[in-house]
Amino acid sequence: TVVAVAQGLPKLGVKKTYKVGFAQTESNNPWRIAQTKSMQEEAKRLGWQLVYTDAGGSAAKQVADVNSMIAQKVDAIFLAPREEKPLAAAVKNARAAGIPVILLDRNVDQSLAKAGTDYVTFIGSDFIQEGQRVGTWLKANHKGQARVIQLLGTTGSSPANDRRKGFEDAVKSDTSIKILASQDGDFARDKGRQVMQTLLQAHPDVNVVYAHNDEMAIGAIAALEAAGKKPGKDVLVMSIDGGKEAVQLVANGKINYVVECNPRFGPKAYATLKDYAAGKKIPAKIINPDRDYDAKTAKAGLATAY
Ligand code: AHR
Repeated sequence: TVVAVAQGLPKLGVKKTYKVGFAQTESNNPWRIAQTKSMQEEAKRLGWQLVYTDAGGSAAKQVADVNSMIAQKVDAIFLAPREEKPLAAAVKNARAAGIPVILLDRNVDQSLAKAGTDYVTFIGSDFIQEGQRVGTWLKANHKGQARVIQLLGTTGSSPANDRRKGFEDAVKSDTSIKILASQDGDFARDKGRQVMQTLLQAHPDVNVVYAHNDEMAIGAIAALEAAGKKPGKDVLVMSIDGGKEAVQLVANGKINYVVECNPRFGPKAYATLKDYAAGKKIPAKIINPDRDYDAKTAKAGLATAY
């Protein structure tokens, strides 16, 4: 998966400092805030100018944000695409304007834009593997029949698509695991709580919740407790992200298993851009290694969780 740097991509000269854009998708959870902080702190440390935008959860605004960065003639754009399809257009606009793009954490639709041609590379977690790890943990740890509610991330986003696929592929041949319902909770705590509250009425026999991120899991825990259930005991709870609050809940026994999704992108993002400017070969994907947390490892993990 190694692509030639020069092929089809805009060139970037070696400079002492760069003016770069970071188009964030939203800032409604600790994961996004940690990612933004990492990008800002590393830019400051390097003495680079950072043009930061927050799309506030709107793909259309994020496309406009990228267009504005193009108009401001940034040297390069770091983009965390909210949804796979609409943001492919923004990637193409930047390329047409001669500005290299590096995708951070989320991907764009691969039939619409490609690494090495339209954007330099994707840096982030392997979302399919994250979902698979949750499925594998469930297979090994549930007792009797598992009746699962899946709280999906934002519709049309790569982590929602891939975390679902990874999980469902991992459990599909296990007849002792049944997915009762899967519904969009938009990666948000209160939406997760509301969706869980509604789904609990239709499926009071649920005994497993798989949330595509910590925030929705924490919302689901509130709904479970309001319904008189004991999360972590009556109902197994699993999530992805590994923020401090969720890792603490693992240590407290209310969440059973969390796969980390590392939000600290700054150092790797800018180092990759420097390598690109220096003409080094950049792989099409740069995958962040992720830890996981269970009852045994959560306490120790708290010290370094974001
Ligand atoms: O793209 C990564 C996901 O987006 C994180 O799991 C989630 O918390 C964030 O909003």
